[in-house]
Amino acid sequence: MGILHKLGTALVKTLPPETAHRAALKALSLGLGPKHACNHESLKTEIAGLSLPNPIGLAAGFDKDAEVPDAMLAAGFGFVECGSVTPLPQDGNPKPRLFRLTEDCAVINRMGFNNKGLDNFAKQLRARRNLSRKGKSGIVGANLGANKEATDRAADYITGLAALWGMADYFTINVSSPNTPGLRDLQGGDALEDLLGRISEARQNLTGDAPSLPIFLKVAPDLNFAQIERITEQARTYGMSGIIVSNTTIERPDYLKSVHKGETGGLSGAPLMTISTRILTEFYTASAGKIPLIGVGGIANGGNAYTKIRAGASAVQLYSALVYAGPSLAIEICDDLAARLKADGFSNISEAVGTLAGG
Ligand SMILES: Cc1cc2nc3c(=O)[nH]c(=O)nc-3n(C[C@H](O)[C@H](O)[C@H](O)COP(=O)(O)O)c2cc1C
Repeated sequence: MGILHKLGTALVKTLPPETAHRAALKALSLGLGPKHACNHESLKTEIAGLSLPNPIGLAAGFDKDAEVPDAMLAAGFGFVECGSVTPLPQDGNPKPRLFRLTEDCAVINRMGFNNKGLDNFAKQLRARRNLSRKGKSGIVGANLGANKEATDRAADYITGLAALWGMADYFTINVSSPNTPGLRDLQGGDALEDLLGRISEARQNLTGDAPSLPIFLKVAPDLNFAQIERITEQARTYGMSGIIVSNTTIERPDYLKSVHKGETGGLSGAPLMTISTRILTEFYTASAGKIPLIGVGGIANGGNAYTKIRAGASAVQLYSALVYAGPSLAIEICDDLAARLKADGFSNISEAVGTLAGG
């Protein structure tokens, strides 16, 4: 990492977490972020028809309003997921709602889908698309959420798809944030069936004769194997393009040290690595490798990313580690991952996917 970016990251960490986040977004939007290209042939890959320069993605929640996707792509991320965006703007939960658990290299958040809403998000993506014509490009996904007060939450996801269709390269249906009461109920039983059925119908109407855009389902790590089997089966039945495993956890491992460990919300960062990778492995087993998986949760280095890929992820995402390491982390992980692939005799990342599963 360049000395300026090291200093910037250190400085930002002295601010309260949400102020630090706003400062980081501001700096990135002013073009002050790092610029790195990932040039490892071995990391070029595909997932659900998307061509990625590398499999390291930015997870949802960092750029909720699609303000800085190109700055994060320029920092070396292979793809960027913006959102979660809800149809109507929302303030989210009262502050404080974001906590650094520094001793645990973790974060707890109960943001509650604070975002500026779909109209603003669409405006941002439209502006970006105009820039793309002048040569900027890269894979940007839209992560969709539902408004807290919505009486028909499934309808909010359809509204999101319709408003942003053609503006994002892929979509994520986020039914796994722990901070919108009842949202996770959409992961189970009839509610999931109804949601996926309506999404599949909307997708057909939006696609027409054109090639369909990928739609992923993002799940919680707090699931048992029976639930995992059912979600996998329904995701396949309704033609979902892949599953993103996982969102934050409501679990609190005993070993957490930080004074903030008792805060309500979703835990992410290092303590989530083992939990979410276990669930990822179970999704890989349940799907017999037949539905692409994106591994998220606790990735802070190349070794973590490699573990997720070997557990069955075709690509990965991260967020919390950025709080501690800054945006140059993506390229550091790329370099490390490329070296690990070479050492293990893989010529491309796709050959390593799932090589730990069942082994
Ligand atoms: C402050 C914060 C806000 C988040 N907001 C969202 C969100 O809006 N939508 C979503 O799908 N995930 C959200 N997440 C979850 C992340 O995308 C990711 O799934 C989770 O943090 C685990 O990855 P990590 O350990 O690398 O952070 C958020 C995470 C954090 C820390």
